[in-house]
Amino acid sequence: MCGIVGYIGKREAYPIIMNGLKRLEYRGYDSAGIALYDGTGIQLAKTKGKVSDLEARVEAEIKTDGKLGIGHTRWATHGVPNDINSHPHYSNSGNLVIIHNGIIENYASIKKELENRGYKFKSDTDTEVLVNLIEEVQKVENVKLGKAVQIALNQVVGAYAIALFDRNKPDEIVVAKLGSPLAIGIGEDEFFVASDASPFIEFTNNAIYLEDEEMAIIRLGREVKVRKIKGDMLVDPYIQELQLNLEQIEKGGYDHFMLKEIFEQPSVIKDTYRGRLLADQGIVKLGGLEDHIGKFINANRIIIVACGTSWHAGLVAEYIFEDLTRIPVEVEYASEFRYRNPIISEKDVVIAISQSGETADTLAAIKLAKQHGAFVYGVCNVVGSTISRETHSGTYTHAGPEIGVASTKAFTTQVTVLTMMALRIAKEKGTISQRDFMLHLRELEQIPAHVEEALKSDDKIMEIAEVFKNAKNFLYLGRGYNFPVALEGALKLKEISYIHAEGYPAAEMKHGPIALIDEQMPVVVIAVNSNHYEKVVSNIEEIRARQGVIIAVVTEGDTTVKQLADYIMEVPKTPETLSPLVTTIPLQLLSYHIAVMLGRNVDQPRNLAKSVTVE
Ligand code: G6P
Repeated sequence: MCGIVGYIGKREAYPIIMNGLKRLEYRGYDSAGIALYDGTGIQLAKTKGKVSDLEARVEAEIKTDGKLGIGHTRWATHGVPNDINSHPHYSNSGNLVIIHNGIIENYASIKKELENRGYKFKSDTDTEVLVNLIEEVQKVENVKLGKAVQIALNQVVGAYAIALFDRNKPDEIVVAKLGSPLAIGIGEDEFFVASDASPFIEFTNNAIYLEDEEMAIIRLGREVKVRKIKGDMLVDPYIQELQLNLEQIEKGGYDHFMLKEIFEQPSVIKDTYRGRLLADQGIVKLGGLEDHIGKFINANRIIIVACGTSWHAGLVAEYIFEDLTRIPVEVEYASEFRYRNPIISEKDVVIAISQSGETADTLAAIKLAKQHGAFVYGVCNVVGSTISRETHSGTYTHAGPEIGVASTKAFTTQVTVLTMMALRIAKEKGTISQRDFMLHLRELEQIPAHVEEALKSDDKIMEIAEVFKNAKNFLYLGRGYNFPVALEGALKLKEISYIHAEGYPAAEMKHGPIALIDEQMPVVVIAVNSNHYEKVVSNIEEIRARQGVIIAVVTEGDTTVKQLADYIMEVPKTPETLSPLVTTIPLQLLSYHIAVMLGRNVDQPRNLAKSVTVE
């Protein structure tokens, strides 16, 4: 949610910042801006729209030879996306320039106070308030920039990752973090600042990830000085060696990141279980789980907290955990859980699922659970992310960077991790037979090959997409393990094609949605071999009887549903427990192709952001 990038060093900042903004654009794309400083004059350009709009503007409007620069790509919170509300923002004197990711909640009262002291505001943003507060502190307290930032941040309530510089300090950038991510790349005589490491990965492998409530003064010719915002203590920063490579964050010949990520699933699912699942030896082990397995076995219940697609992965996990481990599971939207005074005890185990590891609501739910003494386990993709650090233990999904806003490989790798957890706990608890355990390990190992197989239907799915691309509504139905898949399929379609879609448990259809069915309503039914197969077939008959059009996801070789459905999408046979890992694949492809055919911006759908660091 908003991407920030900065550079100070020996090279021209412009290409580094612009390229960095393109890589961070997945975080928000309402507007974008850049400020460059060559030691004499500040050059600033900003615009509503995408980074490409900014690029056109910069080239027409400003000189680009500064060796210090900051840039921003925005997902609007305060103030509509327009040129004025775009970042960077100047302070009143024109000396300070800031970019900000997050929300300053008490900005209105600070703004009033500053207005009383004669400050004028051009934009509706909380960010312009913050930069002027810093300026006012500088003036009143007569302190250096770093100190002024620290004093000002002690007065604000909210979340932020900020980067700013002062016209009077051409060799310095000050950054600070609370709630939104911020990485500092350390090169030779040069430094980079960014919301994630992707903007600077080709320049350095060394990065400091600031912790919450830390700030850093980045000065050329000096070591980065990190300190606590509260209490002023200096911190010895940990310089992390990055694992990321350039290839991982580029499209690699695919038209969109989303398509690349869909097709990466066979290999990333393997990465997820590599070294953890040894089917031949009958072993499944997860480093983060081994020492804490007793917590799960003795838990009264497991509470899963997550948002969006990660919540759907949690819903799949509810089925697997209850089935295999016999531990009661509740799946909660983090945003609801955190505000409804939930009953949590020390006997509860909370699993927080998050691709980015930065989602504000999930993070708040974790903090609440910890306050009540619950043990909190994280399932995150982004290594070193806030949630991975805030949880007591956890497992990374190892899916690699997911850039497409619509989550695909994050979902299947989360389900893979959760399945391995359930199997490991069930084995320890004795709630799974040795035969079933071995069968699941072997079948899980086969999932990448099955996903590969499912992806081969791409051309056929494209033909189905062509038929339905102009539909106004879609219904997605599934039962049991595939009910969450129906929800996820509908979410994918909504997110990127803007077609209204609803996911429903197939049997619930007769309690409402059946009223919607007519010849205009495509109904996607997940009807693979399972305990509920006959029941799903009956549901399909009910739809047919009302002239509904049926697109069914079926197991290879199916004959019954084939005769009833108008269109079919085949997937290989798996045990029902593992079926979401394959049934979700055709639904991802269907959404993707419909969105492309409608001319939508698949990787950057309107109004959405990849990582939501505000509540
Ligand atoms: C945003 C994204 C979704 C994602 C959700 C949760 O809404 O657009 O794709 O599922 O956040 O994100 P997380 O990083 O916590 O999994």
